Amino acid sequence: MAISRRTFLVRTAQVVVMGGLLPGMTGCNGLVRDDFERGEGYAALLAALGQQRTEMLWHASFAPSSHNVQPWTVRVVDNDHWLIGIAASRRLPAVDPGNTEILLSLGAFVESLVLAGSGLGLKCRTTLITDDPDASELIELRLQEAPAEDYPLSRLLERRTLRLPFENREVEAADFSHLVEGYQGFYYFPSASREANWLDTATIDANRQQVQRDDVQKELASWIRWSDAAARRHRNGLTPEAIGITGLAGWYVRNFYGRDDVFNKDFRRNTVNRVVSRVSQSGGWMVLTGRDHSVASLIDAGRRFQRMFLRARERSVAIHPMSQVLEEAPWKEKVRASLALPGEPLFLLRTGYSRDYPPPVSLRMPLDRFVSAGEG
Ligand SMILES: Cc1cc2nc3c(=O)[nH]c(=O)nc-3n(C[C@H](O)[C@H](O)[C@H](O)COP(=O)(O)O)c2cc1C
Repeated sequence: MAISRRTFLVRTAQVVVMGGLLPGMTGCNGLVRDDFERGEGYAALLAALGQQRTEMLWHASFAPSSHNVQPWTVRVVDNDHWLIGIAASRRLPAVDPGNTEILLSLGAFVESLVLAGSGLGLKCRTTLITDDPDASELIELRLQEAPAEDYPLSRLLERRTLRLPFENREVEAADFSHLVEGYQGFYYFPSASREANWLDTATIDANRQQVQRDDVQKELASWIRWSDAAARRHRNGLTPEAIGITGLAGWYVRNFYGRDDVFNKDFRRNTVNRVVSRVSQSGGWMVLTGRDHSVASLIDAGRRFQRMFLRARERSVAIHPMSQVLEEAPWKEKVRASLALPGEPLFLLRTGYSRDYPPPVSLRMPLDRFVSAGEG
């Protein structure tokens, strides 16, 4: 089998790293979250809004989002009245033309604001102000001082998506209950189940189809931050470190990969190969359903997802959203009936125990990139 020079170099790098031939390769690491302090804009907001509100925004900024686009915006009308919206430039029209994933991400952000507020002594009342998924502002937030609840804020900072191999054993019922806290719409399918087998195969097939779509690869290219300079400039999107390309292989792609590399055959094939190995290394799937694809239902699902996700690390349960089945036809039309679910599947989450639960690495934009003040 002929392989390109680039594939050879990357594979060689991976072999060297996996073989442990380069001990203590810290110099090869890419930018991770700890490389940034509270970031630009923090001090200015602190002066304008005070500590509680600024900390609330900072903690919420670590919410998960599809491709790590961090679609949210916050307009501070006054200290106790904020409008939460979506930045047009941070939508994903190729993979997510209906804004489903963007609204789920917005829901996760809103839940983070509410939970951070509760831990910091701010009670939040949220009101949906539109049912238009393309609206630029969707949620009104009213804040009120209240006694702080003992919600552990560290959960917001320590949550992360894990794309590693997970243990194959089943998630225990007590752990699943701890994560979902009695919330409706969560289902768990252990790896040996018929439903998990369907999701494994469908996920591989949907990925195989999706990597051939140039519009999707082009969109992905605009959200991958191969170089440290790009990561530092944007502080959103996917870094090699975040997608698990680390060590010498990480160093190589950071220095020699560019936008066009997502179009090459090796990149597309490796993406599918990674999916094949990941689905075989899991304790099954967790599925989160909602009523439908309305704005209200998606925001609500994003909120439940984030509440669950925030409790996963303390039980060593890894969570890996894999959304391609929900993005690609015909699987997106078949998934609900194939899993025989009473609601619409909105999140498909590869899950399982992970002994190795490293700290988060995905980057976040500084506060001044998504918070603005004024009447609009
Ligand atoms: C709605 C939604 C869909 C997602 N879909 C995928 C996916 O298909 N594959 C994947 O690897 N990660 C997926 N993610 C995870 C994001 O890539 C991740 O949250 C983001 O990169 C930030 O990283 P963090 O969760 O570690 O903070 C999804 C997240 C959300 C909120």
